Amino acid sequence: MEVIILATPKAAAIAVGQIIQRLLDEKPRAVLGLATGDTARLLYRELVKRHLDWSRVTTFNLDEYIGLPPYHPASYHRFMWENLFTHTNIKKKNVHIPDGLAKDLQSYCTRYETQIRQAGGIDLQVLGIGRNGHIGFNEPTSSLSSRTRVKTLAPQTRKDNARHFDGKDRIPRHVITMGIGTIMDARRCLLLACGKNKARILSGAVEGPITSMNPASILQLHPTARIVLDEAAASRLKRADYYRWVFQNKPTWQKAYP
Ligand code: F6R
Repeated sequence: MEVIILATPKAAAIAVGQIIQRLLDEKPRAVLGLATGDTARLLYRELVKRHLDWSRVTTFNLDEYIGLPPYHPASYHRFMWENLFTHTNIKKKNVHIPDGLAKDLQSYCTRYETQIRQAGGIDLQVLGIGRNGHIGFNEPTSSLSSRTRVKTLAPQTRKDNARHFDGKDRIPRHVITMGIGTIMDARRCLLLACGKNKARILSGAVEGPITSMNPASILQLHPTARIVLDEAAASRLKRADYYRWVFQNKPTWQKAYP
């Protein structure tokens, strides 16, 4: 696990933008796993500014609310098109976002897994982290080897995401999410987190035990996971100075950024 600490959310988003740009330069047919949320929005703003060539890129989003049509203001379909895809030359057929209106949810989830495999697997999975440690919508106690499936949202996640809905009763209780096993199959994982409200859970994920009570902690087992943080999100890491030292002293060829 490589921990990269940068001064501000903007600097952190620029770093991740640069890592993605390098991947698309090296592999124009890259398969990206994508996240949504406020942190991801920062990143997509940065990616849009870079005017990258998305014409051969394939994407798979982590999750979607069940029961929301794609045009719903809080749906992740809408989020992705508004914040990223519309501003790129990506082909619609190469975009995959779980369908929250799928009739047979179980077979839909199995098909999503098959589609990822048929695309050659995910080269780089972008992740955010919830205040309870969720990645995608794999809430605490999710199986660490789970695949794409239906999950029930934790009350805290519904509360955290209430701002996107008018009325707390309108927040769906269920979602489709890639599993933790699905995420761990990605060739690279890159978790971006900013802000003080993520500091506690991040210290557990990076420096605590691997546990389904903090699903992001599974990234400790990933061979190439990078955690990019701003100072506020890193503020409870006990070994922050050590991560900075390692980052500053990497061999040039091994550097993710700059
Ligand atoms: C959503 C997703 C979630 C978010 C997480 C952080 O697609 O994957 O795990 O990344 O809830 O969201 P923000 O950035 O809004 O705090």
